[in-house]
Amino acid sequence: MNIQWYPGHMTKAKRAMQEDVKAVDLIIEIVDARAPLATRNPDIEALGKGKFRIIVMNKADLAEEAASRDWEKWFTSRGFGCFLMDARSRKNLKGLMNLIEKACAEKRERDRKRGILNRPVRAMVAGIPNVGKSTLINTIAGKSTAKTGNKPGVTKGNQWIRLNKSVELLDTPGILWPKFEDQRIGEIIAFLGSLNEMIVEPTELASELIRTLRREHCAGGLYERFGCGDDDAAPDILKMIAEKRGCLLGGGAPDYDKAAGILMNEFRAGMLGRISLEKAPEEQAEAGMAPEVEQK
Ligand code: G4P
Repeated sequence: MNIQWYPGHMTKAKRAMQEDVKAVDLIIEIVDARAPLATRNPDIEALGKGKFRIIVMNKADLAEEAASRDWEKWFTSRGFGCFLMDARSRKNLKGLMNLIEKACAEKRERDRKRGILNRPVRAMVAGIPNVGKSTLINTIAGKSTAKTGNKPGVTKGNQWIRLNKSVELLDTPGILWPKFEDQRIGEIIAFLGSLNEMIVEPTELASELIRTLRREHCAGGLYERFGCGDDDAAPDILKMIAEKRGCLLGGGAPDYDKAAGILMNEFRAGMLGRISLEKAPEEQAEAGMAPEVEQK
């Protein structure tokens, strides 16, 4: 599968972020806890150089708990503030706000020494599409200030949200980067629903997901849900899903596209269980697969 998607509005959004970043003190980078490296945008990484960064591993409720803890340690050991989050819930909000406060403390002290008092800390919230930026902002802000929706590619204007007298957040549109050098990353991003659906052939994507779940030893939920097993080839599994869910074309042939859509939706919603598609860390770092992510 060759996956590339970088629509024009993302170039524009990136340019706007390059300007806006000058006005911020902190970058809150949201990644998907199921694949925290694949869903980190290297352009945001570059944009954040010299700024303190917090990595919010969102959708932690859909990732394997132990794997997320390993990632948390991995990011923390590299000097990032890191936080596991289910953005739909206010449960962990206090912990996140404390981390934001901690990240801001140094800046406040600097301001104080310069005689600048009460200037709010400005934080940019950034990430690829569909990682939960809008949901998180809505939850933090406590009301529907940011527009949410599962539509990668919907452009939104950058928007400041005042949380309280000491913190302002800048909401930014989801951006990807111009080329997936590593197609594995493109595939993971497609699996997680961060690409426009139209650019990937549904059965090809679903078949690749099945192969990936097997390779990563996390196909148990798939087998249990759809009554299939290790010996079934990907097209046979799609056929079983079509039959099980009554997705049949005229003449009774299985509707593979519809079955593929069901599989992708149920995977994304966590119905195949909590799955982490990337596991931290040592082996990856040693194999040279981990990008340079030292906090500046
Ligand atoms: P974005 O701004 O980064 O593009 O993402 P957005 O907040 O629109 O969230 C994309 C989808 O992910 C939404 O689902 C949202 O509810 C869901 N989501 C966000 N954070 C979390 C999380 O921590 N855990 C889980 N399980 N889901 C999360 P949707 O189906 O598109 O919308 P809706 O039906 O929830 O409105």
